[in-house]
Amino acid sequence: RPFRLSLEKLKEVSVRLKKDLIRGLGKHSHHRAAVKMLPTFVRATPDGTEKGDYLALDLGGTNFRVLYVRVVEEQQKVVKMDSKICSIPQEMMLGTGEQLFDHIAQCLGEFLESQDLKGQTLPLGFTFSFPCEQKEIDKSILIRWTKGFSCSGVEGQDVVKLLKEAIHRRGDYDIGSVAMVNDTVGTMMSCGYRDQSCEIGMIIGTGTNACYMEEIKNVKRVEGEDGRMCINTEWGGFGDDGSLKDILTEFDEVVDQTSINPGVHTFEKMISGMYLGEIVRLLLVKMAEDKLLFKGETSEALLTPGQFETKYISEIEDGLENAQKILTALGLNWDPVDACVVRLVCDTISSRSARLCAAALATISNRIRVNRGLDHLKTTVGVDGTVYRKHPNFSEELQAAVRLLAPKCDITFLVSEDGSGKGAAMVTAVAQTTCILPPSQQGATNPAAKKKKSVRT
Ligand code: BGC
Repeated sequence: RPFRLSLEKLKEVSVRLKKDLIRGLGKHSHHRAAVKMLPTFVRATPDGTEKGDYLALDLGGTNFRVLYVRVVEEQQKVVKMDSKICSIPQEMMLGTGEQLFDHIAQCLGEFLESQDLKGQTLPLGFTFSFPCEQKEIDKSILIRWTKGFSCSGVEGQDVVKLLKEAIHRRGDYDIGSVAMVNDTVGTMMSCGYRDQSCEIGMIIGTGTNACYMEEIKNVKRVEGEDGRMCINTEWGGFGDDGSLKDILTEFDEVVDQTSINPGVHTFEKMISGMYLGEIVRLLLVKMAEDKLLFKGETSEALLTPGQFETKYISEIEDGLENAQKILTALGLNWDPVDACVVRLVCDTISSRSARLCAAALATISNRIRVNRGLDHLKTTVGVDGTVYRKHPNFSEELQAAVRLLAPKCDITFLVSEDGSGKGAAMVTAVAQTTCILPPSQQGATNPAAKKKKSVRT
């Protein structure tokens, strides 16, 4: 029952988040804000005239990727020419920053070699999916690691500098201008090329987060009154100041305490793929101990943290036969009623996640509507992430709850095709044509990118 959040409760959560968004935007309040509301220096969504060749790096999901991307204006298309996946071993995720960036530089070098691109200095979009205080589009200080990463010597440092230093340590290739991008921003931008009313980007994968276009006059930390800027909300940190205490369960507390970053990203730990499986596992153990499942017996696998993977939730909700196979593989002595109960547990946890995301998305949509003085808002959200994409009914449940929580917003959901990769190229392209980059870097290394006459802001 504590996992089943009523509509009234979700409305309360939304009101709390609304206050936190304002606190995060404030000049004097943002230091202490749980929801960081980070300016991204992306002031415009694509207008369809961008073009050119770009490199993109994508760090923050399950793998690290390098991409070579072409933005083709005539077809309003971002074409992935080629890409390479490099795995990041767990020791490296917990090792030193230097090792991590040397690995990234090596992977990029091998890719450039294989594409015969080593002699060129292409502009590079770096999708770095962690909270960063962005000083400029090419200066981005890591506030803290999230998800499974905890490399030493990177928090508080400029990630672009660390990347460039690693490349210079090798000395066998160079890169052009760099644009730093959060994955939510990449997702919004890659959808924005197809649908120009896309002004929100949302990720529900290993982690969760959203960005949206805010009026600059409300972003008190950035000078200027006119136009908009994309804000990376970092909504995963919602609740870090204790504001979600009433809805946290004993299982959430254990997940937090046993994580590599206790006390931070409270909201994310109730929602995202890195944690959902573990919540279910803890619940199943408790129910078995209370003799409500598996005749009161557990198994070694069920008692091992991390052994109940989040993907099992999707599989189990997809069909009872899957539930039976997974329970057998986990060494459990189940009967048909157990399988049904396990499915109900999975459904309860994934529903809570979808409904909490819906409350947060409704808060943002309502904010955009009120910002613009509109009675009704029609907007598009670019979405990505394994939980949203792979779970059999997560997206429907989320959308149904958003309709109830933001009845004056008509929201179209667009699943982003490779937002992190292609979106990074898009941001670099828009950056080159809308004066986000210092003048010395605008279009300098990419003759194909042209100056834009007007931009949608
Ligand atoms: C990070 C965000 C990111 C999200 C989704 C969170 O842990 O803090 O920056 O957008 O994961 O990848």
